Amino acid sequence: MSLLLDEVALAAQRLAEAGVESPRTDAELIAASVHKVGRGQLHTVPDSAFDARFWADIARRAAREPLQHITGRAHFRYLELEVGPGVFVPRPETEVMTGWAIARLGEMDIAEPVAVDLGTGSGAIALAIAQEVPRARVHAVEADPLARSWAERNIGRYARSAPYTAGRVIPHAHDFGDTLGELDGTVDLVISNPPYIPVGALVPPEVSEYDPPAALWSGADGLNAIRVVERTARRLLRPGGLVAVEHGAQQGAAVYWVFPEESGWRHTRNNKDLAGRDRFVTATWSGEATA
Ligand SMILES: C[S@@+](CC[C@H](N)C(=O)[O-])C[C@H]1O[C@@H](n2cnc3c(N)ncnc32)[C@H](O)[C@@H]1O
Repeated sequence: MSLLLDEVALAAQRLAEAGVESPRTDAELIAASVHKVGRGQLHTVPDSAFDARFWADIARRAAREPLQHITGRAHFRYLELEVGPGVFVPRPETEVMTGWAIARLGEMDIAEPVAVDLGTGSGAIALAIAQEVPRARVHAVEADPLARSWAERNIGRYARSAPYTAGRVIPHAHDFGDTLGELDGTVDLVISNPPYIPVGALVPPEVSEYDPPAALWSGADGLNAIRVVERTARRLLRPGGLVAVEHGAQQGAAVYWVFPEESGWRHTRNNKDLAGRDRFVTATWSGEATA
């Protein structure tokens, strides 16, 4: 065993004692980040190269700082995003909803489909769509200036490293309740992972202390922002356009009824995440409300 692998084993124990959910994985990823190697190459780090910053970072993780804030990176589908204080760390649940949107946009017989990501945070959803749907244009709306600075950084990095995304993710400093009036009735797909936690609900320290409050809380039932997203989607979509909105695992039945036929929605569906929990609702805009 190498010194680094011995230290990783000790660190994993320490993280487990601190209540971290995946202690071994987190210890390995921190070691890989500090030593700038892949997780599968940890055994190749010579004992002489062991870097004591590893233990400083383990102490931060034991204090329940999110892994992604410590490494400065979050992975989302095929993206590596920069994240840190002031921006929501993108989650695997959202990758499934984004995959749904990418598949539907790919099926549309439209030369340059237009999508809108409401509450873009790090830019994860918008950038993934731009990366995976070659000719799509994505409007990325974010009200919070700090979160927006992370989105702009990620959009800029990808414009340089993957120039085919350049100019196709357009950031907007707007509230998603009254954004993009100039696109009313023309958008092919609206997607959102809005704040949806009921005020007062218990969440782990990684969430309560590090994700920005504007990304989390949304009224007594957690549905305030989702109701706003529904109204904005209804205004922006063309007839036949699609909406996808993420919600909490217990909110599937309630969110289904935010998209009723009387409001002009068709084919409203509950969709599951990889763990089999209700996670996002999708619907098709008919073009007119009947009530
Ligand atoms: C749960 S985070 C999701 C971020 C990103 N889309 C993701 O999935 O990783 C919700 C985001 O919506 C933003 N937000 C909340 N209310 C908003 C509003 N009224 N208008 C615009 N953005 C808003 C928050 O600042 C936050 O960045």
